[in-house]
Amino acid sequence: MSIIIALCAACSLWFCTGMRIAVTSELPQNYTAYLHHFGLVGRRMRESPGMRLLREQAFWQRHASARKQNTRADARWTAAANHLFDATDDELKRMMGYKPLARKTHKAFSFVNLHSQNESIPAGIVLQEAVDWRKHVRASNKVRYQGSCGSCWAIAAGSALEMHAELAGYSVPGLQVNQLVGCVPNTRHCGGGGGCDGATAELAFQYAAEHGVAFEDDLKWDTKGGLCQKAPKRIISQGFERLTPNLALPLQYALAMKGPVVVSADASDWELYGGGVFDDCPKNAAVNHAVLAVGYGVSTSGKYWLIRNSWGKEWGEAGHIRILRFEDGSDGYCGTDYHPQEGVACDGETSPVPVCGMCGILMDSSYPIGVKVSDGVSQLRGANTLH
Ligand SMILES: *[C@@H]1O[C@H](CO)[C@@H](O)[C@H](O)[C@H]1NC(C)=O
Ligand SMILES: *[C@@H]1O[C@H](CO)[C@@H](O)[C@H](O)[C@H]1NC(C)=O
Repeated sequence: MSIIIALCAACSLWFCTGMRIAVTSELPQNYTAYLHHFGLVGRRMRESPGMRLLREQAFWQRHASARKQNTRADARWTAAANHLFDATDDELKRMMGYKPLARKTHKAFSFVNLHSQNESIPAGIVLQEAVDWRKHVRASNKVRYQGSCGSCWAIAAGSALEMHAELAGYSVPGLQVNQLVGCVPNTRHCGGGGGCDGATAELAFQYAAEHGVAFEDDLKWDTKGGLCQKAPKRIISQGFERLTPNLALPLQYALAMKGPVVVSADASDWELYGGGVFDDCPKNAAVNHAVLAVGYGVSTSGKYWLIRNSWGKEWGEAGHIRILRFEDGSDGYCGTDYHPQEGVACDGETSPVPVCGMCGILMDSSYPIGVKVSDGVSQLRGANTLH
């Protein structure tokens, strides 16, 4: 008996150490080695000498920051090199694209079947300690890459629709995210014209309820969204639920009981992230990104929200980031977003907004409801999940 216990202690120790080594991946020794490792040599050679110099400087800056992070004794997360290591600030900005609606607009907007803003949480309910929706889906379990298009909002919303459809028992060959990028109207031009200029997941959910969204295979579509074209209605929803902003419990409840949820985030400091539980956003987060929360959990580095990003699989933990989650129900990590004007300039509404959670993760959350696949092609497999 004691031998078994000793063995298990040893293997769990080995497991932790193994994880640590895997996460603390070696940084490339120099810029040339980096370019070779990430297959960027040819692409960079086609750029101007000035641009190449700028990139090399960016590389060494991130290299130094990453080394510093990885020598911190108290760190919950580790930095790793990735394909964003020599990106310019401009390029990184385009890797986001969350443009919130003006707050006044939220109330006036005719959301399809918008449920109460206060999902009521039954008294005395005990939520699971950990949830990971990736384990309950197959076809829709994929990490996308937004490239230089500010389409995070479309990818997050499209992935949510896809996953909710699969969780409802439908087989889903893949949703045409570019239709959302090309067709979702942002008539108020709040901080951008929609499309690659950024928008919000709620607009995408509303579009899916009104028009439906096609499968990837239905039509060829320009990779950056392209112009809107007529498309078959495949994945449709009845609308969406918006969570009460800046509270942890409604998000935890929705993730435990309903499925993946699109959340807002400040991703300004995520480009070095290689693994672990990220805890380095200031309280005054500047929300600029939309991502898909696919669960939550507990680790030796702390509790976390499990987030699927749209920066490809090479980034973070196979395309995901774990964000520090505070003690259940505690929303104490709050500050002010002083830059909402980027998104709400349309209404001249430039006053700062309250923002809670590490990296502003609790500020703007929503998920689709009543998602269905509507045609003879896809068969109802029968509910096989927690719904
Ligand atoms: C860059 O690093 C690689 C491998 O890490 C090494 O072989 C090469 O000599 C280095 N180049 C320079 C210029 O230091
Ligand atoms: C929503 O829930 C919060 C916290 O329980 C409560 O204070 C607030 O009054 C509720 N709002 C509405 C519109 O029901």
